[in-house]
Amino acid sequence: MDWGLRNRLNRIIRPETGRAVMLALDHGYFLGPISRLERPGATIEPLLPHADALMLTRGVLRNCVSPATATPMVLRVSGGRSILAGEDLSDEGLATSLEDALRLNACAVALSIYVGSRHERETILNLSRLVDEGTRLGLPVLAVTAVGKELEKRDARYLALACRIAAEFGAHFVKTYFCDDFQKVSGSCPVPVVIAGGPKLETEMDVFRMARAAIDQGAVGVDMGRNIWQNPHPVAMIRAVRAVVHEGASPDDALLLFEHVKRSAE
Ligand code: 5RP
Repeated sequence: MDWGLRNRLNRIIRPETGRAVMLALDHGYFLGPISRLERPGATIEPLLPHADALMLTRGVLRNCVSPATATPMVLRVSGGRSILAGEDLSDEGLATSLEDALRLNACAVALSIYVGSRHERETILNLSRLVDEGTRLGLPVLAVTAVGKELEKRDARYLALACRIAAEFGAHFVKTYFCDDFQKVSGSCPVPVVIAGGPKLETEMDVFRMARAAIDQGAVGVDMGRNIWQNPHPVAMIRAVRAVVHEGASPDDALLLFEHVKRSAE
């Protein structure tokens, strides 16, 4: 890996712990203004100091994030379908150029691959092209193993296959879902893996347990969205998730910290 690419990756996956707490806010690229992302700037502002990186689109970055921030940005560059386009969300192309990613001082770029879908081939070839160009420019590529609406695909057999394919085609790191037997996913993927949070879970404890189990089973961190900013206490939430990811906190300790931060803000 060239120095620039490694340096950018080190700004996201922190060398002090080898871990990362990324905050995902890119949902609007196919879902529009979902709950708590109606005004992205207001959601982002209090969370920014607590995230190792934000994952977002160029529109939200340009319009809703202060350029004075030192927080690294992971720019989503794939897209092209919306939730209104029917069942098949897999028809994504490369929608943002790497020239624009560099202009925005992105630390990495992200795209989704849809393994096993109608557009599997195109999305995997898009990944390959993005890795060629990203490597040339020193920009790491995050491959997201998207499942669209087929949530039943989130098992270890499918996710291990999808993550491995992402790594085989050169992704520098991979984002996937947590699942039972997660060590099968992380253990067969030769590049770092972060987990998405998925739809909001019932309790905070569920989120802390998932993050703890993911880290214990080989994830380097989280790239979490709804379970942080759809919580009524998003700062308490991200701080507790950070404690799990970076400090080895147990779910019980994370809940104590969550309650403490929540109370101090009231
Ligand atoms: C969509 C994405 C989202 O960023 C991802 O799902 C993370 O957010 P959440 O924790 O809300 O699931 O990549 O393809």
